[in-house]
Amino acid sequence: MSTSMRVMELVRFGDADTAFAARDLPKPTPGPGQVLVRVEATSVNPLDLQTRRGDYRDQVALPAVIGNDVSGVVVETGPGADDFQSGDEVWYLAPAFAGPGAYAEFHVVDQALVARKPARLSHVEAAGLGVVGVTAWEALVERAAVRAGERVLVHGGAGGVGSAAIQVAGALGVEVVTTARSKDHEFVTGLGADHAIDFSTGDYVPQVRALGGVDVVLDTVGGDTLTRSPEVLTDRGRVVSIVDIPEPQNLLAAWGVNATYHFLFASPGRAKFEALGRLVDQGKLRPVIGAVLPLADVAQAHTLLEAGSVGEGRRRPRGKIAIAVQSLDEPPHRTTSSS
Ligand SMILES: NC(=O)c1ccc[n+]([C@@H]2O[C@H](COP(=O)([O-])OP(=O)(O)OC[C@H]3O[C@@H](n4cnc5c(N)ncnc54)[C@H](OP(=O)(O)O)[C@@H]3O)[C@@H](O)[C@H]2O)c1
Repeated sequence: MSTSMRVMELVRFGDADTAFAARDLPKPTPGPGQVLVRVEATSVNPLDLQTRRGDYRDQVALPAVIGNDVSGVVVETGPGADDFQSGDEVWYLAPAFAGPGAYAEFHVVDQALVARKPARLSHVEAAGLGVVGVTAWEALVERAAVRAGERVLVHGGAGGVGSAAIQVAGALGVEVVTTARSKDHEFVTGLGADHAIDFSTGDYVPQVRALGGVDVVLDTVGGDTLTRSPEVLTDRGRVVSIVDIPEPQNLLAAWGVNATYHFLFASPGRAKFEALGRLVDQGKLRPVIGAVLPLADVAQAHTLLEAGSVGEGRRRPRGKIAIAVQSLDEPPHRTTSSS
């Protein structure tokens, strides 16, 4: 058995085409309570782009293996890691900025972060649902504590987090309002959104107010979109932003509303994956995969994620851009939805 593994290492901050290099590194060994996972698939997220550009250079020492979404197979267990055995199919988040990530053939992780992959998802599909699903779950369930019958505004409904959040919100029995370009309205209503508002042609605020406001705002955009939240909130509303850095006291004082504000940086954890897995099993949550590329083409995957969804030139496909690491268990460059 080989003692090395192929990785696509981040060797330089900056443009995608010069940032990564294929390297062979020693295959890691699981320590106490850890499992060694053969990574079957991962996916690219905006955090990967930000890390590659150098936004987190104080937390990432080069060369580094980045990437957070993992779907794979347990191939070895460390001492005391009794929750899993070789052959188990698993999915999880590799913790951000805490050791090697997922752009690799193998990955070592604490078993406490790992859950069994839902059987109805391929590895590529599972890898496209981790970061976005966990973020949506943490925002709506753990922070906003949404209750059935409430109305929730999900910004960026056609994006990765937004499309997961629409589905999670729907499963929780809430009315979902979302912002998306009109070309994406059929897509977001297909995911379960009750109302779609085109953010690119008008002001979302009066349109949400005309619906009677919302109990919860999930902000995936930041800036003005976030700071105008009080204009659409009902009394005792909750705002969760996954984009803007929090200064909750200042923000709430400025808003002068009876509301709570949360900033969220999604974190790994088995329970969240198990909760998402139950929704998948119930047919209430499905991944949206826009393209699948091999690990060697990770730079191309970054370029694709960076491309706009409208305008001239190359367009980004709607849905997650997944990376098939071991085997192409889906055809490469597959586009499952048009934009
Ligand atoms: N804190 C955390 O834990 C966490 C976790 C995941 C993601 N994030 C962050 O959250 C953001 C979204 O992530 P993602 O993976 O969902 O990204 P994404 O797939 O790029 O989705 C962003 C969506 O927002 C839409 N959008 C752009 N401008 C908008 C506006 N003014 N109003 C409403 N929607 C707008 C985009 O539409 P077009 O493509 O048509 O322009 C796109 O559909 C990123 O900044 C990411 O870094 C944070």
